[in-house]
Formats: sequence, structure tokens, C-alpha cells
Amino acid sequence: MDWIYFGNGYFIWNLLGAGIFGFVINPPIALYYMQGLNTTPLHGHTAMFGVYGMLGMGLMLFVLRDMDLKSEWKEKPIRIAFWSLNIGLLLMALLSLLPVGLAQTVASVKHGLWYARSAEFLGPPAMETLRWLRAIGDTVFAVGAVYLAWFIFGLKGGWAIKE
Ligand code: HEM
Repeated sequence: MDWIYFGNGYFIWNLLGAGIFGFVINPPIALYYMQGLNTTPLHGHTAMFGVYGMLGMGLMLFVLRDMDLKSEWKEKPIRIAFWSLNIGLLLMALLSLLPVGLAQTVASVKHGLWYARSAEFLGPPAMETLRWLRAIGDTVFAVGAVYLAWFIFGLKGGWAIKE
């Protein structure tokens, strides 16, 4: 029943990605200073993939399960995919997009939006490291995507089904 995780994961992202990260950037004063900073992809990824990506994968697995009720699935790859995709997304958000977005917000309030988006601000080594830290979450996320694809093809190829 691990596939049901996907149908539930989106509750969390609805709360965090759409709810919290969305409302943080939504008030007029926030939009005045924060429009188009890294807080925007922070909200965009966690709300869009977090909510509708998870929901879509949950529905896909639900339909696949219903198409062949007799065979028993080897569910381990789904579990690995679910946790990798979720942990990867969370790491992408917390290690990189959120800190860069908050640093940009401070810079925008102090000096202006132009400065927060400039190479002058984003270029120095500390900011470059923060931007590259995203690769950790992205990699964990990619592992999850590969596992899910491997599982789906395995339903047709036979390697995802118990003898
Ligand atoms: C599941 C629901 C949601 C999804 C899928 C979603 C998705 C997105 C995406 C993909 C963007 C980026 C658009 C772009 O870069 O052009 C965005 C921007 C934005 N979202 Fe959401 N969102 C959701 C809910 C919310 C909520 C609940 C709020 C606030 C109450 C909100 C407020 C905003 C704001 C203010 C922007 C513009 C940010 C900017 O221009 O810098 N969103 N949203």
C-alpha cells in the first residue's frame, strides 16, 4: 500500500509550499520588495510539484493498481521514490532557495530590488555556494524520479511484480 503515500504527500506541501511559502510572498508589501526573488521559485516548486506533482503521481499509481488487481507489486521502489522525491524537494527548498531568497529580501529592502537580483549581490563566493547547494536536493530528487520510472516500466516488463 506504499503507493498511497503519494496521494497523501501533497497535504504537507499544500500546507508548506502553497500555504506558508505562498502567503509569505503574497501581501502587497512583500510583493513590493520580493517579487521575482528566490522566494518565488521556493513557492513555485514546493506548491506546484509538491501539491500537483505528488497528487498526479498518486492518481497515476491508483489507476495502474486498478488496471491489474491480480498481480502483487514489489513496492520497495515506490517507497524509495516517494521519500527521495520529498526529501530532495525539501533539501532544494531549505538548503538553497529559502536562504538565498531571504538574503535577497534583506538586500532588496536595504538597497532595492535591482541590487538583490544583480550579479554584484549574487556573485560572491558565499552566495555562489548557497546557489550550488541546490544540487544536493536536486540529485536526491532525481534518484526518486529514476526509481519511479523504473517501477512503472517494471509493471509492464515484469520486474516490479511479485512471482
Ligand atoms: C497549490 C497551489 C499553488 C500553486 C500550484 C502555485 C504555483 C505558483 C507558481 C508556479 C508561481 C510562480 C509563477 C512565476 O514565476 O511566474 C507562483 C507565484 C505566486 N504565488 Fe502561487 N501557487 C499556489 C498557491 C498560492 C497561494 C495559496 C498563494 C498566496 C496566498 C500564492 C501566492 C503567489 C504569489 C504572490 C506569486 C507571485 C510571486 C512573484 O511574482 O514573485 N500562491 N505560484
